Amino acid sequence: MNENNKKSIPFKRSHAGSTDTLNELLERREELLKGGGEARIEIQHQKGKYTARERIKLLIDPNSFNEVGAFVKHDVHDFNMQTKRFPGDGVVTGSATINGRLVYIYSQDFTCIGGTLGYAHAQKIVRIMDLALKSGAPLIGMSDSGGARIQEGVSSLAGYGDVFYRNVNASGVIPQITAILGPSAGGGVYSPALNDFVFMTENTSYAFVTGPEVVKTVTGEDVSFEELGGTSVHGAKSGVAHFVNESEEETMEHIKKLLSYLPSNNLEDPPILEPRDVPGRIIEDLDTIIPPDPKDPYDIMAIILRIVDDREFLEVQENWAKNIVVGFARLNGYPIGVVANQPNVLAGALNIDASTKAARFIRFCDAFNIPLVTLVDVPGFLPGVSQEHQGIIRHGAKLLFAYSEATVPKLSVITRKAVGGAYICMSSKHLGGDINFAWHSAEIAVMGPEGATKILYRREIAKADDPERKEKELQEEYRQFFANPFIAAEKGYIDDVIQPSSTRVRLINSLWSLLGKRETRPKKKHGNIPL
Ligand code: HXC
Repeated sequence: MNENNKKSIPFKRSHAGSTDTLNELLERREELLKGGGEARIEIQHQKGKYTARERIKLLIDPNSFNEVGAFVKHDVHDFNMQTKRFPGDGVVTGSATINGRLVYIYSQDFTCIGGTLGYAHAQKIVRIMDLALKSGAPLIGMSDSGGARIQEGVSSLAGYGDVFYRNVNASGVIPQITAILGPSAGGGVYSPALNDFVFMTENTSYAFVTGPEVVKTVTGEDVSFEELGGTSVHGAKSGVAHFVNESEEETMEHIKKLLSYLPSNNLEDPPILEPRDVPGRIIEDLDTIIPPDPKDPYDIMAIILRIVDDREFLEVQENWAKNIVVGFARLNGYPIGVVANQPNVLAGALNIDASTKAARFIRFCDAFNIPLVTLVDVPGFLPGVSQEHQGIIRHGAKLLFAYSEATVPKLSVITRKAVGGAYICMSSKHLGGDINFAWHSAEIAVMGPEGATKILYRREIAKADDPERKEKELQEEYRQFFANPFIAAEKGYIDDVIQPSSTRVRLINSLWSLLGKRETRPKKKHGNIPL
């Protein structure tokens, strides 16, 4: 008998309602609160991690946890597993409230068989997912797991399948959020990937399909856990993590903040707050915020923060595909999703990652009734062999698809460049944009002056006495003709050319005018977004 078994309490025969049975219950409860035992809890703490129960406590309103399945244990005997039976089977599940709103939670307990997922463990998660879906409440998973429990073989795989199937069923119905707070290995990565938002914590969390040892065997690459799947990878390179925090406490606060923008399900409107900021606030310095030279970069964040309520912006995937900025904010108390090109990075050009990042965010907002506000300063799609070969056509099409498919109110403001296919992509009138504004500084053209003059005037430039000067002159001529918002406004593609300082008030008025928007589309099973 090993240490685990010695600790577990044997079944006792008692008279119903006796103090014996009550004591037995209390003893059993005390045992289950210890998870995999004090020694393993100590190791968990030494690694800088909280336990499954401590994490739930950090996240929820005090005393609001309503646990279910606390006594569940696996009944596997292969590989001597009867000696590793822990109450709860390595996952704590239940409902709770966060700022008074109902959520369902599961929290994997690494102290019990490494938080691994066997069949009983999976069925506990499945039960919580079913309850969350039936009740229309967000699902929050806390992942700290070695993946499929090897000793349970195909039953573990079946368990994962049951979870993935429900993730997909619930997608677009209730918000699904995962915090990866330790290892998330093997099968453990795909439920987070099917969720709407993934949080990670620096130094303690990592996620990979195959671990460093398997990588070494198969490819010969020597790589650490952090290098393979730490926060620096998933926050900045792969785009798997939407939020990275320094500590678990910060992660929990960040989850609460995110929830404050989200409805509990797709049939509700997002939570409206009593506005504190002035809706009619005129922002004078926006009138001069665009640099005089169209080639000069500027920080789109400065514009976002000035426009939204109280300068509060919850940025999503802030370190990945930084040439596009996405995140949540409020306009006069009403939650919005902001999508904005970032001229400071790659001049704001759209590439594969930026298209994928924005498309997914737009689809989330659309699924959960969050209006979209798009700020446009885009010189086009990023040219390059590697972008073409990796499929910018396919990935750029995701953005076209997402904007066209979205039926929430869609507002846009062109601050400077809106060029070519990228102009069309960024919430244009032609993809169903409801209100499209442009600043006086907007330049709306099929191509930038440099590229256009080379194509239109190749022979003329070659014949000129001073080809370089001629080219510059022609570029300037082209710019004068196209580099303004008025041609598009004359054609009705732009609803108004506005003074930048009035942007907040114009957006708030437009949003208010669209809150009753209803748009129906042809009935179909589902569209076929280019993947
Ligand atoms: C069973 C496991 C396990 C697993 C860990 N444990 N992973 N038990 N199945 N997959 C157990 C350990 O035996 C140990 O038990 C306890 O969990 C803690 O693990 P340690 O290794 O002591 O902890 P640590 O050093 O922190 O390392 C954690 C780890 C490592 C990085 C997660 O355990 C590891 O690499 N595990 C394997 C990860 C992996 O390759 N998973 C993929 C599985 S296949 P004791 O009793 O000593 O406390 C898969 C495919 C599914 O998931 C596909 C679905 C579609």
